[in-house]
Amino acid sequence: MCDQSSELPKFSSVVVRCLTRPSGAHGRFILDQEKKISKYQNFLNYHSIDDLFKVYGPVVRIAPTTVAFLDPDYEQQTTRMVYTALKLDKGPIYNAVQMYMPASLKTRDTLTMVNSQYRVAIIEHNVHAKYKCIFSSHYSPGNIALLHPDMKVSVELLIQKILEAKGQPVDIFHGMHLVMIDLILKSTFGHDQGALEVWSEHSHDIIIDIPQQGIVPKWLFSLVRRFPNKRWQTFCSSSDTLFDTMADFVREQQKEKDEGRLDERDNSTLIERLFAHNDSCAPGDQLSFEDMTSESTTHLLAGVDASAVAVSYILWRFANQPLGIKQQIQAELDDAIPDAGVLPNWKTLHNLPILDALFKEGLCLYGPIPTFLERLAPRGVPLNLLGYQLPPGTVIGTQSWSMHQNARIFGNPEEFDISRWLDNTNQLQDAMSQAWAPYRLGTRICIGQHLARGAMKTVLAALLRNFDVLPCPETNDETMDMMELFGMFPVGLSCKLKFHPHT
Ligand code: HEM
Repeated sequence: MCDQSSELPKFSSVVVRCLTRPSGAHGRFILDQEKKISKYQNFLNYHSIDDLFKVYGPVVRIAPTTVAFLDPDYEQQTTRMVYTALKLDKGPIYNAVQMYMPASLKTRDTLTMVNSQYRVAIIEHNVHAKYKCIFSSHYSPGNIALLHPDMKVSVELLIQKILEAKGQPVDIFHGMHLVMIDLILKSTFGHDQGALEVWSEHSHDIIIDIPQQGIVPKWLFSLVRRFPNKRWQTFCSSSDTLFDTMADFVREQQKEKDEGRLDERDNSTLIERLFAHNDSCAPGDQLSFEDMTSESTTHLLAGVDASAVAVSYILWRFANQPLGIKQQIQAELDDAIPDAGVLPNWKTLHNLPILDALFKEGLCLYGPIPTFLERLAPRGVPLNLLGYQLPPGTVIGTQSWSMHQNARIFGNPEEFDISRWLDNTNQLQDAMSQAWAPYRLGTRICIGQHLARGAMKTVLAALLRNFDVLPCPETNDETMDMMELFGMFPVGLSCKLKFHPHT
């Protein structure tokens, strides 16, 4: 096993120059700071870990008590053991997610089931398992299919907004954020936010600011928030603003429930499931108001950014494909959607192999969370990990970036090549499917995966059926370089593309 832990350099200084500018203008600067911070926090970024695998093999020590592995097996048995069978706790990095927690909440200790306010950051497997069963049915494929009419309404509005731009470049990163804000608020509260309808330059600032807060050290953060600069204060208060907004929604829903008005809806919202849980469980297991608010906030944050990032990269890569490939993708959609104004039903949408190949290939190369996800080796006896005996409590994990970059399975992993998913003679189709893990796997797999897939495919099918998507000079390799803020973001924090009506 290679040991890289002694090579970690020290973090020197961080200057928050970015705060003087609106979102989107400072990504390159953030990327530089993020590289320094990842070193400071004693973790290597996903590219560095991947380089180590390439040089030293499938097991590398990346910090004194942290071991990364890359499963050599086509069936990913070790990966499944770590993320599924062993039911491990998450590693200590997830405590950092609390950096984004609103200041008002940090002092409270009224939460009933968890100490961490963001579900993604719940460390203990047992606590998480209890929590998850309350609403996993909300995100089941069947229930998400009921949201398809809302997806179609949002996407029709997106098409309209693009048409209104009259050939001028449209920032699809921004647009997809708004689509997802509308969908997730609808699914969570039954609320019609209309974010896409009132699309304005800064309408997604709060959502974009929150992950960026994570790069600012705590000491600097508390200093900056006192400065009398409006943009700095908006930046620093974005978590509180979002949390307060979500708290208002929860209060409003509670009021509707108390007045007996919630039952009038056709589909159960997430908040209704949380209320139903509280009505039926033992008092000690009830969710507090803060639990419900933080749960809803987590879903919004986790869902909006990831889906917007993924769709942006897919459309950007589509825009830069050779004409023949673009035509191949669009021909399938022309066939499946004879009238461009009538989007396909749910079943048809999920039975379009070429669209599916585009979607999979996009998430393979541009998965928004391709990074090392920590788990803790079990207490008790040492863990045998690919032949190495690891002491209890060792931090272990793998990363989907390296799983997707495995040349033994993907052949030409760095190429954007949708044909790999369409070639039925390829003996490695099964191995590719096993190694494809943008949502990860096991006990902590993305709970929103079916919503993400449905929303993204609806957007992609509709846009590619209605428009020829063309590159735009403002969006290039440099602006689309990936920066890591727990999840990935294009460094330019935008993705402007040209949309010409498809004939
Ligand atoms: C392309 C879109 C998406 C990708 C690639 C993605 C990926 C992921 C990944 C890799 C995780 C595991 C993180 C970890 O173990 O630390 C995760 C967790 C999570 N995701 Fe997603 N996600 C996407 C969209 C969504 C959407 C639309 C929602 C919600 C509506 C959502 C909600 C969540 C939640 C709540 C968790 C925490 C799950 C738990 O710990 O039980 N995600 N996601």
